[in-house]
Amino acid sequence: MDSISLVMRRSYPSSVWLLLGLALFASACSDMGSNPGDAPDPSERSATWIGGIEDLMIDQCGDCHGEPAKNGAPDTFRLDIYDSSENDGNDGAFERRDRIEVRALNQKTMPPPSRTALSSADQALLQEWLDNGAPRE
Ligand code: HEC
Repeated sequence: MDSISLVMRRSYPSSVWLLLGLALFASACSDMGSNPGDAPDPSERSATWIGGIEDLMIDQCGDCHGEPAKNGAPDTFRLDIYDSSENDGNDGAFERRDRIEVRALNQKTMPPPSRTALSSADQALLQEWLDNGAPRE
């Protein structure tokens, strides 16, 4: 084997890696600011179940009020689903909206003191949703 083809054999793969690296770098850059795991920008949320309340409930209440209920939470309703049509006839967030308002906004006893309280942005969004009759969309 001559030296030219040795160089070719070595340099071809490394240029492929360089191109791959550049492509990965470029796609990482274009993803910045919209990472899938990030919480949505509060200003882009709307006061509907699918527009923001579902994520809020799952993030702030779902650890205990999901399926199964955990940490002593009642198992007679779930807050990670919209209503009883999605929960085999058992209550969801819509049916418990009055209690959500009392516990999370009036008394502020939910989430419990062991957890981080709802941010003022979350409280405002939740209040708006409840004031509008807790719409799905
Ligand atoms: C760390 C676990 C935990 C989290 C997180 C949590 N809860 Fe609860 N929740 C409980 C427990 C335990 C009970 C039963 C004792 C009680 O009522 O205080 C309960 C009861 C409730 C009840 C039923 C009692 C009633 O007053 O009607 C509602 C409604 C409720 N929680 C709403 C919420 C909302 C809304 C959130 C999120 C903003 C939330 N919870 C987050 C543990 C939790």
